[in-house]
Amino acid sequence: MADPLVYLNGQVVDYDEARIPVEDRGLQFADGVYEVVRYYGGHSFRMEQHLARLVRSAAGLEIELPPLDESRAAMDLLIEKQGLRDATVYLQITRGVAPRQHGLIDGLTPTVIAIARPARTIRPRPSLKAITVSDDRWARCYLKTTSLLPNTMARERARRLGADDAIFVRDGFVMEASASNVFVVFNDRLVTPPLTNYILAGITREAVLDVARAAGFKTSEEPISAHLLYAANEIFISGTNSELGPVVQVDERPIGSGEVGPMFLKVQEAFDAAIRASEPAVIRSS
Ligand code: PDD
Repeated sequence: MADPLVYLNGQVVDYDEARIPVEDRGLQFADGVYEVVRYYGGHSFRMEQHLARLVRSAAGLEIELPPLDESRAAMDLLIEKQGLRDATVYLQITRGVAPRQHGLIDGLTPTVIAIARPARTIRPRPSLKAITVSDDRWARCYLKTTSLLPNTMARERARRLGADDAIFVRDGFVMEASASNVFVVFNDRLVTPPLTNYILAGITREAVLDVARAAGFKTSEEPISAHLLYAANEIFISGTNSELGPVVQVDERPIGSGEVGPMFLKVQEAFDAAIRASEPAVIRSS
């Protein structure tokens, strides 16, 4: 795809024309919040939940958001204007521009940036290898802020070790992956860490729990000891970008059979049905 259009502060502009001042606090302090919304067949998936989380993240940083309708319309507009079907939209809202000082400054106008890019809806999903890393992030991971250096560094560490992703472990417990939540299958139970300040309340995580419960699977939100990961029957991650991704190896040890497991396949099927149900106009074959 050619460079995407950019939504910037109320206008859609060419990629090369999009400029923000050097003292935007998003650049100076990673002082911003964001959302990533998936579109299937040209329609957003769980937009309301994304916007609700955006409100929570902004409130946590005391950023006064512009009207939500503007953000929603901006994302839809980028999809429409570029004729996108399966896509992800990044929406980033920074506190705004001001001479650099740590303390907050009243009356700033937030900077609103959105970019949509095509996404590939790949089935079957490729198998993933993960490593575990010590969680060195701050204590407010439930806010979706643009401050993501520990996440990018963890992902890079995984790459250098020949893996695809990193799973954060804090005080001996599994938290989440670098850009997704983690599900672990123990026998016939689908377990995911509970929502605390140390993980993001993933929209995909919620969708997985919804579809798994509706399908009658045993689910549980409970702390998972990291050392139990190696004994799991299956592991998978969930996120707007990664969708559901089967993890077949952690720290070079095979998980379960070392192949994509049966629970993953069933959950994936239920998840895909939820996507189709949310887009009645789209007939998809898997
Ligand atoms: N990341 N945990 C973290 C740390 C994340 O960054 C994400 C999403 C998730 C999953 O959330 P959701 O299901 O709502 O996408 C969990 C996005 C996709 C990103 O940073 O690109």
